[in-house]
Amino acid sequence: MKTSKFGKLASVLIQKIENKMFQHGEKLPAIRALSSEHGVSKNTVIRALIELEKSGYISAKPRLGFFITFKPAESKPPQKLAAPLQAVEVSIPQMFFEIMSHSAAFDILPSATEQYQSKHLLQLNRELSRVAKQNPFKKASYYDAPVGLQSLRVQIKDRYRSRGLIIDEEDLCITSGCQHALFLSLFTVCKPGDNVAVESPGFYGVIQLLEQLQLNIIEIPASPVTGLDLEALTSAVNKWNISAVVVTPSFSTPTGAVMSVANRKALVAIANEHDFAVIEDDIYGELAFDSSTHSDNPPPLKAFDSQERVILCSSFSKSLSRDLRIGWVAGGRWHKDIIRLKLSSQLASSRVQQEAIAEFMLNGHFKRHIASFTSTLLNQRNQLLAAILQYWPNSVKYTLPQGGLALWVEFSEHIDTTKLYANALEKNITLTPGQLFSCSGHYNNCLRVSFNHPFVGERLTALKTIKALIIKD
Ligand SMILES: Cc1ncc(COP(=O)(O)O)c(C=O)c1O
Repeated sequence: MKTSKFGKLASVLIQKIENKMFQHGEKLPAIRALSSEHGVSKNTVIRALIELEKSGYISAKPRLGFFITFKPAESKPPQKLAAPLQAVEVSIPQMFFEIMSHSAAFDILPSATEQYQSKHLLQLNRELSRVAKQNPFKKASYYDAPVGLQSLRVQIKDRYRSRGLIIDEEDLCITSGCQHALFLSLFTVCKPGDNVAVESPGFYGVIQLLEQLQLNIIEIPASPVTGLDLEALTSAVNKWNISAVVVTPSFSTPTGAVMSVANRKALVAIANEHDFAVIEDDIYGELAFDSSTHSDNPPPLKAFDSQERVILCSSFSKSLSRDLRIGWVAGGRWHKDIIRLKLSSQLASSRVQQEAIAEFMLNGHFKRHIASFTSTLLNQRNQLLAAILQYWPNSVKYTLPQGGLALWVEFSEHIDTTKLYANALEKNITLTPGQLFSCSGHYNNCLRVSFNHPFVGERLTALKTIKALIIKD
């Protein structure tokens, strides 16, 4: 990119922003002015601006132009906060369930009216009602096979092939969402009392599963940028026998971290050496802002697995709709056991949902939806960052994810986000405090903030209200 004309122009503009020649909030000169100043075509300027927008330096305001949204000098992500390496029984405090029942959601203001409205989702709805009308009596009388509909598994396989993972439809089993896939995997691989390593901070849904299945948790520190710390994992596996590690290598929640290809290969090598299962949660894998670059969008971990020990779990919940409740698992050497467990825990999945999604994908709608959704998400991430920089304390640190749905914010030590959560809830603002992402009492000064929704209007006002609550504290 750097050798192309637009790449060179993007680098020059980034330098100017970093050297504060353009200040945060300032409007960039018009496209025509930039084109004559730099002696390049308007098209080159537009491509350079798109690159700057993708990197979070600027944001477009319809009909007004491009504005500087980002202060590179302050883009330091939070430090990796070291959770102590210990294997403990999971006992989740009541507060956790209170927070979960109120929110743990991906919207700070569920009452807000501004929503991303995808025409592709409307198409999916049409597909669902069309399929529901076909052979309704037959569908009502038979269960689908536990492994799930072949035509859907073929579509999922094709998506993975386009992401660098060679997999066959026979390797996949349809589940009721990713949480169900994670449950089936953990239940199959572990027995009560086993140790399971997880990222810290990491997904609260896994912490709950570990408690239910009476498994011990070992929290492995994870960098907010590069994910699971492999040195810490090595220390842990040298000390304890572990049955599995659960990891979200692409756009992990809550930080948005992405593990590099080198780290993915190294993780699989550690698992091979110490003989444990790797449960890969790939739920955000489709949500790279720039799916053409390997660094932002590496192939799933499973692509580096030569011993069938990586279990790949995912769903359409984040890429398409949470309401579908359709996910999948590629269980590797445990595949047959996982299908049997699906049969005994759920019997089968809804055929209407599966047929409609398969048709939707076959006709290219999923691919088009992802292209437009990820570009919307990038825009919303930039809106959120601009607002955080404008309204929240200067000391705040944050991650700059290149995909996924959320970023991770770290306030000064004295700010207790669980208290902030309770105060915000009184104003119908739902925060996701750091405490949810660990069971070792860490991350009390952190928040996950999602950019799943546009940060305009009422949500912007909500961000200002949060600032007022922080100051009052
Ligand atoms: C990392 C991660 N895995 C799994 C899930 C659960 O996904 P599903 O809705 O498909 O069960 C979530 C939902 O928030 C998640 O963030």
